[in-house]
Amino acid sequence: MSASVIGAAVSRIDGKLKVTGTARYAVDHPMDGIAYGVGVPSTIANGEITRIDTSIAARMPGVITILHHGNADPLFRPANAFERDSRAGESRPPLDDDTVYYYGQFVALVVANTFEQAQDAAAQVKIEYAEAKPAVSISDVPAPAGPPMRHYARGNAESAFTTAPVQLDATYTTPTETHNPMEMHGTIAVWNGDRVTLYETTQGVVNHQHVMSEMIGIPLEDVHVISPFCGSGFGGKLFPWPHSLLAAMAARRIKRPVKVSVPRTLMFTTVGHRPHSQQRIRIGATQDGKLVSLQHDVVTPSSIIDDYAENCTEPTPLLYSCPNVTAQQHLVHLNIGTPTPMRGPGTTPGLFAIESAMDELAIKLNLDPLELRLRNYAEVDESSNKAFSSKHLREAYQKGAERFGWSKRNPKVGSMRDGSLVLGWGMATCTWPAGRAPAEVRVRLNADGTARASSATQDIGTGTYTVFAQVVSEKTGIPVEKVDVVLGDSSLPPGPMSGGSTGNASVLPAIAKATLTAVDTLMEVAVRTERSPFFNADVKTLAMTRGRIHAQDKSPESGVPFEEFLKMRQLAGIDGQARTAPDESSRKLSSHTFGAQFCEITWDPGIARLRVSRWLTVMDAGRIINRKTARNQILGGVVMGIGMGLFEETIYDRRNGKPLNNNFADYMVSTNADIPEMDCIFVEYPDLNLNEYGARGVGEIGLTGVASALAMAVYHATGVRVRNLPIRIEDLLA
Ligand code: MOS
Repeated sequence: MSASVIGAAVSRIDGKLKVTGTARYAVDHPMDGIAYGVGVPSTIANGEITRIDTSIAARMPGVITILHHGNADPLFRPANAFERDSRAGESRPPLDDDTVYYYGQFVALVVANTFEQAQDAAAQVKIEYAEAKPAVSISDVPAPAGPPMRHYARGNAESAFTTAPVQLDATYTTPTETHNPMEMHGTIAVWNGDRVTLYETTQGVVNHQHVMSEMIGIPLEDVHVISPFCGSGFGGKLFPWPHSLLAAMAARRIKRPVKVSVPRTLMFTTVGHRPHSQQRIRIGATQDGKLVSLQHDVVTPSSIIDDYAENCTEPTPLLYSCPNVTAQQHLVHLNIGTPTPMRGPGTTPGLFAIESAMDELAIKLNLDPLELRLRNYAEVDESSNKAFSSKHLREAYQKGAERFGWSKRNPKVGSMRDGSLVLGWGMATCTWPAGRAPAEVRVRLNADGTARASSATQDIGTGTYTVFAQVVSEKTGIPVEKVDVVLGDSSLPPGPMSGGSTGNASVLPAIAKATLTAVDTLMEVAVRTERSPFFNADVKTLAMTRGRIHAQDKSPESGVPFEEFLKMRQLAGIDGQARTAPDESSRKLSSHTFGAQFCEITWDPGIARLRVSRWLTVMDAGRIINRKTARNQILGGVVMGIGMGLFEETIYDRRNGKPLNNNFADYMVSTNADIPEMDCIFVEYPDLNLNEYGARGVGEIGLTGVASALAMAVYHATGVRVRNLPIRIEDLLA
C-alpha cells in the first residue's frame, strides 16, 4: 500500500487532454450524417401561440424538418416527485402545447443540414401570440399567502424576539443569478432502431438516462448517455433540460443524428438559474451578545411550471446556538423558466442574509464580529439535537484570524488606511451539508501492468478522474499514470450524481472496495497457480505494494509484479466490482462542512473605486484527498462568490421577461483583474462517520459566506450597509 498518494497534490490525469484540446465535450463528438437543430425561442413570457407559419422557413436551403407543438411527437412527464433517482430540470415536455410560460421557451425546432442553414431558417419561422401580461418580478404578484413550502420551528421565536434587550430586523435580497459554465449545454442524439444514444454535458449520466427514458417513454436500457467531459455545470447540469428531448425527438423523426446546442443567450432562459431571494431576518440578543431568537422568512420565485424552492433556510437552524428559531419559506410563481440548484444552492444566499445580520448585530453590540460568532458557537446541531460528526470551526476561526491578522482590526468605520485607500475587513462563517450517496465501481487489473477503474459517475471539472486513480494507486501501488479511469457513461456500474458536494464522499469507499476485491482475486490466483512462488501459501500472509504481490513480512522487492500472475494463467485481467452506500449509523450524527472567510477590500473615495485586495479561506472539510484539486475548488468558489458579491445579476425586462444582459459583455462575472492574492488553508480532521477516508465535499462551500464577508468589509470601509446584492458603486456614493 502507498498511503502517500492520498492527500497529495496530484495533477489532473485528464489535464493533458484538456489543455491540448483533445478532450471531447458533448457537441464535439464527430458524427457522420449529422443534422443541426436550432431552437426558436418564444418572444413573450406569457400567453398562447395562435399561429405558426413555417412556409418560408421550410423552403429554405437545407431545411429537413420543423418541429412545433402542432406536429411534435408526444412526450411524457418525468416521475420527478415519485422516484428519487430521476429529476428533470423542467417537468413540462417541450412543445407539449400552445402555451408559453416564459420568455425564451422553445416553441419550435428547425432541423437542417448545416448549423447556419438551421439558424437562418429559424429566424424565418413566423409565430403569432395572444399575449397576456407576464409576472416577471415578485412585485408583480400578490404576497404569498397560505402555508409555507418549508417550515422549521423550535422554542418560541416570536415572543423571545419581542422581549429581547437587543433586536435586529432587516431584509436582504439576492438577485437572480445565471450559471455560466464555459461549456454551454448541448446534446447530440443518435437513434439506432429503438435505442437512443445521447452525447451530453451533464452532472449525472444515470439521472439523465432515467429522465430521458421516462419522458421519451422507452425502456431504461434503450437510453445510453455519454458525457466523458463536462466544462463545468455549477448545478445547471444536474437535471436534463428541454433541448435534450428536442434533439432526441428530431433525430428519431429524421432518422439521422441531430445536434442541438444551447447558445449563450438561451443559457439565460431554458436551463435554470438561481432565483432571486427576499429574506427577512429578525434576531433577538442579550446585551452580551447571546442569541435568544432567530427568525428567517424567505420568499423566492419559481416558474409557473415547477415548484423549485431555493432552500435559503438550510443553515438557519444549526449555524448558531439559539433556543428559539423559526425558518420559513414561501414560493411565488413567475413567468420565468424553472430555477435550479446553483453552487451552494439555498445556503449561499441564506448565509448572505444571516451573516450580514450577524455583522449588523455585532455593530449594535459594539462587539467584534468574530467574538459574536464564538459566543454563539453551536456545539451540537440544535436542529436535530444530534452531535456533529466532526466540527472544528472554532479552530478554523482561530487559524484564520491569526493568519489574517484579525486582532489588528480597528472596528471604527473608515479608520484603517493604506495611503489614500480606505481598508475594509470582513469575515463570515461558511457551511454546507456533507452528504454521501450509493456508488458502484468496477476496477480491472490488466496483464500489461495497468489498471482501469470505471463508474457511471462523471468529472464535472472538479478532479473526479484523478481521485479514482489515486485510490486505485493507494490500494495497489500501481502508479497513478498507469490507472485508466473511465467515467461519464450510463452503461457503466451506476455511480452518483456530481452534485451537492457529495461525489468524493460517495465514490471513495466504492473505489477502495472494488480495488480490494480485485486484489483479493489476484491473490487467489497467486496461491492457486503452480508456477507462482506463492503456490499454496495462505492469502492472508500476502500483501500488494508498489504493484507487486509479496509476503507481508518481506519487502515488496522480494515479491512479483502483479501482472506476472495474470500471464502465468493467460488472463487478460481481473475485475473487482463493489457497491457501497452510507450505513444507517451515519444518520445518528450530523455531518456538515464548516469554514471561515476573511477578506480585505480597498476603497478609493477619490475615484470611487472598490477593489478586493486580500482573501483567506479556512476550511474544516474533513480529510483532503487531493490537495491541489481541493484548493482549486475552494479558490474557484471564492472567485464565484466575489462575482456574486459585486457583479452577478440577471436583469429581466419587466414588459416581456427577456433577460436583458444575456451575454458575457453585460452579465458580469469575476475576471482575473478582479481577483486578489488568495490563500486557502485546511484544518484537517477526518470525518470517519461519513466514509472510511474521512473526506467531506469541497465543491460548494468555497462560495458560501463570500458575499457577506464582502458586504461587511464594504461597511467597515465606507459605513454603507448594502443589503441587496450585488454591491454596486452607486450604493457607495449615496
Ligand atoms: Mo451543485 S449546485 O449540486 O452542482
